[in-house]
Amino acid sequence: MPKTYTISFAKPDKPGREALVVLAGNEGTLGPLAGAIDKTADGVLTKAMQTADYSGAARKILDIINPAGTDAERILIAGMGSESTLEKATDWEALGGAVMGALSSVNGKVISVLLENPDGSVLDPESAAAFAQGMKLRQYIFDRHKSDKDGDKNNKEKKETGAVKIQICLEGHLAAKKAFTPLLAIAEGVHLARDLVNEPANILGTIEFASEAKKLESLGVKVDILEEKDMQKLGMRALLGVSQGSVRPAKLVIMHWKGGKAKEAPAAFVGKGVVFDTGGISIKPAGGMEDMKGDMGGAAAVTGLMKALAGRKAKANVIGVIGLVENMPDADAQRPGDVVTSMSGQTIEVLNTDAEGRLVLADALWYTQQKFKPAFMIDLATLTGAVIIALGHHYAGLYSNDDELAADLGQAGTETAERVWRLPLDPDYDKIIDGSVGDVKNTGGRAAGSITAAQFLQRFVNELPWAHLDIAGTAFGSPKTEINKSWASGFGVRLLDRFVKNRYES
Ligand code: BES
Ligand code: MN
Ligand code: ZN
Repeated sequence: MPKTYTISFAKPDKPGREALVVLAGNEGTLGPLAGAIDKTADGVLTKAMQTADYSGAARKILDIINPAGTDAERILIAGMGSESTLEKATDWEALGGAVMGALSSVNGKVISVLLENPDGSVLDPESAAAFAQGMKLRQYIFDRHKSDKDGDKNNKEKKETGAVKIQICLEGHLAAKKAFTPLLAIAEGVHLARDLVNEPANILGTIEFASEAKKLESLGVKVDILEEKDMQKLGMRALLGVSQGSVRPAKLVIMHWKGGKAKEAPAAFVGKGVVFDTGGISIKPAGGMEDMKGDMGGAAAVTGLMKALAGRKAKANVIGVIGLVENMPDADAQRPGDVVTSMSGQTIEVLNTDAEGRLVLADALWYTQQKFKPAFMIDLATLTGAVIIALGHHYAGLYSNDDELAADLGQAGTETAERVWRLPLDPDYDKIIDGSVGDVKNTGGRAAGSITAAQFLQRFVNELPWAHLDIAGTAFGSPKTEINKSWASGFGVRLLDRFVKNRYES
């Protein structure tokens, strides 16, 4: 049995003491409460810090087992570093994540974390809540397919380690708890997005993904699903063409969250949901193809976002649309050179069946703008390998026809450390994908591959503010951080949740 954690907030006067976490500032300075514990125990903490040459550097943890003279089995000291390493909410998240990482090997049913500033001032509730969210985000592990979840071969009887209560103790715990409530909902959205991306494609096909989305109805999200026959009627031949070689049915899932004013036009988020991308007849090389189980990272982010928004009862009207298909080679699969007519009426030459995400989005975007008349549209897609060449795994590519939208996304990215970098749209790039047999080609070749993909999408967007996030480098396989050690990152959920908050709720 793996451990399950709950996070609560309490007064700092009597922290439970099976395991205790305290903070230390630069040079190992302790706040008054931790200092008092140290003093009663004859300087056990100070001595341990000296012996270990521990200076309270940012996110460094000193783990003291059976500290003499205290009633704790274990005291962990977590380094705050200098003021500059702990000024933003994301710094507190990282600190919470680092503490959580150290706690994963700590036994005990109750773990207390004493939060105080070294100078004795009371920690602000937002920082404490961010710390707690960092803990929650770090708790994520994808082990549902492991029969030995402890990773402990000696634990033959599978001893239950069960539920662990993490108690965050500080003055102003009530305000911290209040600030944490929406953050918990957001973290749950992130966990969902990570689960969807991590889950292999034999287990999470289009049907299974759609039923995961349907589960959001329990939170008050209305979920409608278009089946293939519905999409046929609407003329979505671009999306359906991708799905043609798969035995899994294509689905277009529409999630509605109505938290804003009745008449207010909704914000729309659209996600690429290719549950597996073999490349189709333009088949991909074998090496690394398994990563394409994550080619629904855009759809996962949109679904996780809807969960977050509903979970924290966001005051905004939001629509999430995800195009779910599987791209397989088959006797029925579409061929390179095929021409398909999209819902918009534009014909597309499918020169490469591996440039499938843009075909799915072409119809999903068109449908979304026609049907819902949103205030703006933002799509997310693991769209191109080229964006990884451009930006690596640290920033997502951002394209937009609207400077304000782009700036707001950049701002939300900085605030959440889910960073985006704007790349250009330009008629000169657009020309590259002019069709020869049809209206538009689905690839413009290797040069500027992420840009020409964005230009393709723009042809399916009319006069409304729109932004496209190419998250191929950030949705999975991005560097491990203090708040995520899993392959899937859940990228996009926190970014867009913050974007919605800044636009509608501030
Ligand atoms: N899903 C891939 C893009 C991708 C690559 C995402 C690596 C994550 C990691 C996409 O469908 C694709 O195959 N794009 C092609 C486009 C090309 C054929 C024009 C690419 O990037 O090579
Ligand atoms: Mn592809
Ligand atoms: Zn793809």
